[in-house]
Amino acid sequence: MPAGILALSSNAGVLIAVAGLVVLVIAAAAILLRGRPKRTAPPDIPAAMRPAPSDTDLETPIFAKLQGWGLLLVVFFVIWVPLMWLREPTTNLAQERALKTDAIERGSKAVQLFSEENSTGIGCVRCHGVSLTGGQNLYNGSVVQVPNLTTVCVHRPPAHQERRRHLHDDRGRA
Ligand code: HEC
Repeated sequence: MPAGILALSSNAGVLIAVAGLVVLVIAAAAILLRGRPKRTAPPDIPAAMRPAPSDTDLETPIFAKLQGWGLLLVVFFVIWVPLMWLREPTTNLAQERALKTDAIERGSKAVQLFSEENSTGIGCVRCHGVSLTGGQNLYNGSVVQVPNLTTVCVHRPPAHQERRRHLHDDRGRA
């Protein structure tokens, strides 16, 4: 018999012996453990009916826990409230700016002509010019002067004040 086959067969023998040993151990364990009584679970008593922990067990840990949570909450508020208070002006400013940006956006759409894409359009551009800079326009067959809307709020006294001044001049003040 060549050495290779001999080695193989002896290896196989060892394997079979080990497998047999494992089976033996498992079988022995099964036989030994079979007769043992199973561990009984503790009786199922409702929590409310079990004896209560002693006062010392109850008081100290619960008291310490409550104190710990109280301290944690106080520390949280001591940090959180001033932080929010200090950040408030910045937050408000950012909100104010965002609102203004939105308003400008809405306004720029409102002055344009109404269309399917621009449902909020009123069409001030129809008379006040494409870029709202005013000029002259035809209205009911006559040429009318339309004011510049881009400078309406800048360096100019309110319109009603001007009119009142004119009225006074017409009456001829003494
Ligand atoms: C049908 C044409 C027409 C349309 C549309 C129109 N306007 Fe005018 N608007 C006029 C005319 C004309 C005057 C000048 C009236 C006057 O001087 O008494 C005027 C005056 C004004 C004034 C007064 C300006 C000033 O200097 O006193 C304001 C503000 C104004 N328009 C805003 C608007 C806005 C905002 C819209 C869009 C919502 C609009 N107008 C749409 C014709 C128009």
